[in-house]
Amino acid sequence: MKTNTQTYRLTASEFQWEISAGKTINAWGFNESVPGPTLRARKGDTLVVKVKNDLKESTVIHWHGIQLPSEMDGTDSVQKPIEPGEEFEYRFVVPDAGTFWYHSHQNETEQMERGMYGALIVEEDTSVVVDADRVLMIDDMKLSESNDFKKGNSILRWIERHDGREGQTLLINGKENYRIEMNAGQTERWRFVNSSSARYFRLFMGGRKFQLIAADGGLLEYPVEMSELLIVPGERADILVGPFAEGESIAIESLEYNRMTMFKAKRGTYATVNVGAARPSVFRMPEKLRTIQPLSSRDAAVNRKVKLSVDPSLKHGIDFNVNGKTHAADKPVTMGELQIWEIRNASLMDHPFHLHGFFFQVLEVDGKAPEYISWKDTINLKPLSRVKIAWMPDRTGAWMYHCHIIEHHEAGMMGHFEIVDPSKESKGVTHHHHKG
Ligand code: C2O
Ligand code: CU
Repeated sequence: MKTNTQTYRLTASEFQWEISAGKTINAWGFNESVPGPTLRARKGDTLVVKVKNDLKESTVIHWHGIQLPSEMDGTDSVQKPIEPGEEFEYRFVVPDAGTFWYHSHQNETEQMERGMYGALIVEEDTSVVVDADRVLMIDDMKLSESNDFKKGNSILRWIERHDGREGQTLLINGKENYRIEMNAGQTERWRFVNSSSARYFRLFMGGRKFQLIAADGGLLEYPVEMSELLIVPGERADILVGPFAEGESIAIESLEYNRMTMFKAKRGTYATVNVGAARPSVFRMPEKLRTIQPLSSRDAAVNRKVKLSVDPSLKHGIDFNVNGKTHAADKPVTMGELQIWEIRNASLMDHPFHLHGFFFQVLEVDGKAPEYISWKDTINLKPLSRVKIAWMPDRTGAWMYHCHIIEHHEAGMMGHFEIVDPSKESKGVTHHHHKG
């Protein structure tokens, strides 16, 4: 297979962004667009992204879902933040096809909320042929009457830290009331990315059926038919929609989901599909999309436990913890040793767990096997639930996992760990720095 180098430039800056006619926000983002440009590459390509920081504060860019070398992961554990006026070049191979995304990994509760994110699509020669392929990035913003990002008084700020920041401005691809023009008789692939700070998106299209064909880490083995789907912050889902009839108008909504917050998000419409004249379709799809080899049997012994909890604290009222600590330092992982982790949510609210740099397979959710096998990097944990996952550490370096509700991540619901190669360790090679 021929591979290429794809080179992009992203400039982070502050600019005016119109989210709907006459409603403009003071956004922070890439190349003066929210979301930033969609980066595209083919499986196996080398992606080079030169990031220039024209903001007034430092930033780093994380490549969510890409199985890359630790040095390129875009966190302050592996690189110096990019200071105002500086540039940093990210360079890595994209080894897997799928729907990924990039986002700021610094002061995320402000930088991501203001628009510092974009999609990264890795294509391959696939047997799924569709009439159109779209990226739909989900977000919501909490804006003041003057369309500002202001935080509220101390009580509202406390609730925002507890719940995560959710707002009434519902966006797809940076726009309110987003429109999709589709042709009757056609089938499209929609790649959803939940880039919001905290909003749980429960996709609903008036009860119409759609097929889920890909999760975080690319295609499933078989399409799964459904009429609603929960997509939590950080997660991706590729679905096939259509064919629809001429003249149909379909609302893309998010249904209510109670994740046990103080403020409850309401059902809302994010976009509308307008179906125009019929066109011929080229859609085709094999019965089996691909084969996913199981990493482990369900009953494999757990070799690490990760506990997510929300505990009383003298300083903040409550702390968001991993194994009883904020910004926890977890034990090293040995390269090449299959990891069987049990992640337990000991709290009374949901948390989306995200592992950097690696795909995992879900072996069990509350003791039960999932309905289908898939590659994941983000998974929701309901209150008091447990998931058992398997993943293979095949690269060394400093890594992390965390809750993808950005306010919980900031408050400390995260763990740092290193993957070490014992054969190199004995020769006294690299030591990484990370903050304690
Ligand atoms: Cu998408 Cu550390 O995050
Ligand atoms: Cu959380």
